[in-house]
Amino acid sequence: MDEKQDKVFPLTAPIGFFDSGIGGLSVMLAARRILPFENMVYFADSAHCPYGSKGSEFVRRRSLAISRFLLDRGAKALVVACNSASEAALERLRLTYPDWEIIGIEPALKVAQGLSRNKRIGVLGTPLTLKGGRFFRLLENFSAGLKVYTQPVAGLVELIEAGRLDDSRLEAILKKNLRPLLEKGIDTLVLGCTHYPLVRSQLAAICGPGVEVIDTGEPVARQLWRRLLLSGRLNPGPAAGRSEYFSSGETAAALQVIGKIMADPAIEIKEGGI
Ligand code: DGL
Repeated sequence: MDEKQDKVFPLTAPIGFFDSGIGGLSVMLAARRILPFENMVYFADSAHCPYGSKGSEFVRRRSLAISRFLLDRGAKALVVACNSASEAALERLRLTYPDWEIIGIEPALKVAQGLSRNKRIGVLGTPLTLKGGRFFRLLENFSAGLKVYTQPVAGLVELIEAGRLDDSRLEAILKKNLRPLLEKGIDTLVLGCTHYPLVRSQLAAICGPGVEVIDTGEPVARQLWRRLLLSGRLNPGPAAGRSEYFSSGETAAALQVIGKIMADPAIEIKEGGI
């Protein structure tokens, strides 16, 4: 606690992102579109994925270790690109690094509240996120006049991590978890885990055109842009930003999937030995 970070960051310093695995890339992709000049460094904690079925204390410890790693790599801001890690560790991270720009993520209930016409909203998320205090407070603040139906999902993150997006088990898991929400007549579905936008088209196909599917990648990227602008830390360019990737797990396996998602066949994944 109370680790002091007295670094002065150059504007070209990277923005750090992390997740239990590759899900946070859905957030980094949105940030790439909005912040084309920024350098970015991504840490996939693949050796410890999934987070969503683990205890908060474990996820908090991993989040602190990874954040330290990203700060040591000179990251001028940190995006906790994981709902489960935000639930478990965001407050602690902000206490530990009070002078660092730290942006967390939470299910987009507020956006859903504005979009839903029939006021019936479904939220898919990990057990850790949906039973957490942050989500509870979010419900208290943004569920007036709404019916919010939550569905904790098991087994999906593992398939996405393995790049098994065409696997028949994927469709079965999606159908099983969407059915109870669709039976309630939801017209808006909130993706409360950063892995789920990576299977957005499969989710949308099962939901049909009457259901709006929303995630938090873009609002978080806009928030990141605002915070960097206000703190005078935006990289003005003109060179296009570069991305660097680390994984705590098997880098060869991560390479396949990350290369596909980032549409970059030339990327390298380095070992993040923590
Ligand atoms: N992508 C993460 C989230 O947003 C973590 C999923 C997991 O590891 O269970 O919650």
